[in-house]
Amino acid sequence: MPADPAAEAARRRTFAIISHPDAGKTTLTESLLLAGGAIHLAGVVAARGQARRTKSDWMKIERERGISVSASVMTFEHAGLVFNLLDTPGHEDFSEDTYRTLTAADSAVMVLDAAKGIEPQTLKLFEVCRLRDIPITTFINKMDREAQDPFALLDEIHSKLAMDTAPMYWPAASGQRFAGMLDLVRDEFVPFRRLEAGEQGFASQERQRRGANNFLNGIADDVRAELEETSELARQGLPAFDINAFREGHLTPVYFGSALRRFGVLELLAGLAEHAPSPKAQKALIKGGAAEVAPSREDVTGFIFKIQANMDPKHRDRVGFFRICSGRFQRGMTLKTAAGKGFNVHNPLMFLAQEREIADEAFPGDVIGIPSHGGLRVGDSLSQSGDVVFQGIPNFAPEILKRVRVRDPLKQKHLRKALEALGEEGVTQVFKPVHGGDLVVGAVGALQFDVLDERMKAEYGLEVIFETSPYQAARWVSAESRADLEAFVDKSKAQMAEDVDNAPVYLGKSAWEIGYVQERNPKVRFSAAKERAA
Ligand code: G4P
Repeated sequence: MPADPAAEAARRRTFAIISHPDAGKTTLTESLLLAGGAIHLAGVVAARGQARRTKSDWMKIERERGISVSASVMTFEHAGLVFNLLDTPGHEDFSEDTYRTLTAADSAVMVLDAAKGIEPQTLKLFEVCRLRDIPITTFINKMDREAQDPFALLDEIHSKLAMDTAPMYWPAASGQRFAGMLDLVRDEFVPFRRLEAGEQGFASQERQRRGANNFLNGIADDVRAELEETSELARQGLPAFDINAFREGHLTPVYFGSALRRFGVLELLAGLAEHAPSPKAQKALIKGGAAEVAPSREDVTGFIFKIQANMDPKHRDRVGFFRICSGRFQRGMTLKTAAGKGFNVHNPLMFLAQEREIADEAFPGDVIGIPSHGGLRVGDSLSQSGDVVFQGIPNFAPEILKRVRVRDPLKQKHLRKALEALGEEGVTQVFKPVHGGDLVVGAVGALQFDVLDERMKAEYGLEVIFETSPYQAARWVSAESRADLEAFVDKSKAQMAEDVDNAPVYLGKSAWEIGYVQERNPKVRFSAAKERAA
């Protein structure tokens, strides 16, 4: 009996971790993988420094652990469930990659440093989750260090993110005095013990029940009194967990712990198992009509949310990361874009962290890597039928625009080709001004230009020069009537460009100018995000 896609989808938890750099995302990832049995060692995280910042944090784990992590998704099984943990790039710089990865996640874990609370990047990433109504579970990390008052932390989440906070546990002090946490749902105490140097796994999780004679045993009197008082206040003054409010993105369950000391991580994982959503129906167009694609749908469908060049830079083949939305994928299947282009998937890459045979099938919520020699694009919808186009996998308007030239003028043609190829991967966006002149490349973060520069050199042998462009903003333009659009494009030629799909883009000299032009052209829509039709 082949496995049923709906039942398999129900036991999938596909999530991403969002955090500000240094809050502990890498350490938590490692701890979760350890809890899921995906890796067998845990220890110090690599030396810090600029070099590792530009790499995926998982590549770091891969180097240190000698395990094969394909840098984009880690799959592990725990408690009868399949967890797919999606990697979001860990550096300061904010890239479209991160946005797009979140389109493939069904929920997110927000990691906060207990001493710092909400930091700028947490906020940005949170906004993306909110756009997509992704439920968020909060993990307040580093309780083994001096932390802010837990009420102040929850208050900050509440006021900055406009979300209710439901503590699932309540900490007994922090830093040197950190003694453990009270399970507010079961009214049990989980004592904290520092792992011995070199100790494997997790500290044994003895649970002390209220009423039993070991309850709050072994913790200092002042910490005990403080815990009894503050946990009671928390219970009375803060919302209780409500699954619907969580699923709708209005409430976040809050866990406390220390990723480094591997404390609170099993509890977080249990919380994800119990409450985090499994894949749900996704909005799509089927043969042009609005529809929802449920995981139980027989047609295998999904979308490409990321494209990565192969590890070997001499080969141009790429891997498209395909998030499955419905059906039972089997190796060897042919998947088609809505434009009818077929991809025979003989060698899907599966990202199982645990040692086991390579899977030949995959289900909704899973991510498989589809190798191709080009032709696959970020945002492409693929299905067996070729009928389905998913909605809402946007390209974001770049925040930085630069003119690009190649040092050797004879290589102008190569430049365009290379930029387009890297554009397909989503490294940058490329705009061709309609009146000619240098190509304009756009990126959401400054680091993307460094990556572009590096890769142009290494993979295409091109020395490129970036120059300031007169433009500061790009907007995709559209209109109800073709004539209105053409009239606008015609009179704005000097500032019009085309993207890789030849879609018209208006290049503005400032956000103010865009506002002004927009006001004067009410029939034209100016859009900061373009949803790609496959
Ligand atoms: P990131 O991926 O979010 O950028 O953070 P990462 O996990 O790399 O953690 C950042 C720093 O915080 C690291 O220390 C890490 O060891 C530390 N850390 C993470 N979780 C905890 C925790 O629960 N408690 C404590 N005390 N520290 C924690 P580092 O010294 O900056 O780097 P390293 O030299 O240890 O690699």
